[in-house]
Amino acid sequence: AGASAVIIFNEGQEGRQDVVSGTLGAPADLPVVGMSYADAQALNGAVEQGPTTVRVFTETISEVRETYNVLADSRTGDPEKTIVVGAHLDSVAEGPGINDNGSGTAAILEIAEEMAELNIKNKQRVRFAFWGAEEKGLLGAEHYVEHLTDDQLGDIYANLNFDMLGSPNYVRFVYDGNGDSSEAAPEGPPGSGEIEDIFTNYFDARDMATVPTDFDGRSDYGPFIAAGIPAGGLFSGAEGIKTVEQAEVFGGEAGVAYDPCYHEACDDITNISTKALGELGDAAAHATMVMAVSRTGLYED
Ligand code: PHE
Ligand code: ZN
Ligand code: ZN
Ligand code: ZN
Repeated sequence: AGASAVIIFNEGQEGRQDVVSGTLGAPADLPVVGMSYADAQALNGAVEQGPTTVRVFTETISEVRETYNVLADSRTGDPEKTIVVGAHLDSVAEGPGINDNGSGTAAILEIAEEMAELNIKNKQRVRFAFWGAEEKGLLGAEHYVEHLTDDQLGDIYANLNFDMLGSPNYVRFVYDGNGDSSEAAPEGPPGSGEIEDIFTNYFDARDMATVPTDFDGRSDYGPFIAAGIPAGGLFSGAEGIKTVEQAEVFGGEAGVAYDPCYHEACDDITNISTKALGELGDAAAHATMVMAVSRTGLYED
């Protein structure tokens, strides 16, 4: 057991992993680290303060671990237009993380293998990224983006993210890159709406319903959009509860979480809808390929 750390979340932003540092009440000598909201909630010592109701959670860090991003580039394609196709490789400590996020990493690994097998000649370079330490607050992707030079940042054309593709009580969620899902929805960097369209057009053409989902930075695309890079991706649902309307459209059970084993020990190999993973995995492959071989460009840059 070692030092304590302070984790701070803004009230009313449940589910976000943004770490707001230097805010009210953080003891100055303690490091500020990120963690999932659920983990933070589970901790004792929540302190409420002030009119802005900032909550401070403290945690004891008992171990320091080194972790890695694993990156693999296509041999072909313009390196000045690199599409980063990412999925996080880590899980929470509570469980094996097969849906979160074995499903996304398996999907992008399969896409990489298929592109090699088919001897695809890319127009744009594809960089497959297996991120580390997403569950500790997007640390791997954050580290990656933070350490790019301005030149290197300018070479990143787009980011695709696949985090949870096989939820047992799934919905076909597409990241809402153009912010049209509600009044309050933020718009992503220019190009994000076009990426959203690649996914929704794919599903529309197959008469497969989709639902736009918050583009709020709750996975590894967060650091990319914060740096102004267009992004998009798919999601089959986590702790959220399936509505009656969604159950009518997608089947499954209303009133039950999309993934009842989210961040639990039961997120094992039995916690995968192979139907969901097949459908969302194929769409992930489609979008990766379209963006890799497109000769027209996806958006004005
Ligand atoms: N990033 C979350 C996790 O790994 C899952 C998630 C993905 C939530 C996409 C919302 C949107 O636990
Ligand atoms: Zn998770
Ligand atoms: Zn995840
Ligand atoms: Zn949208």
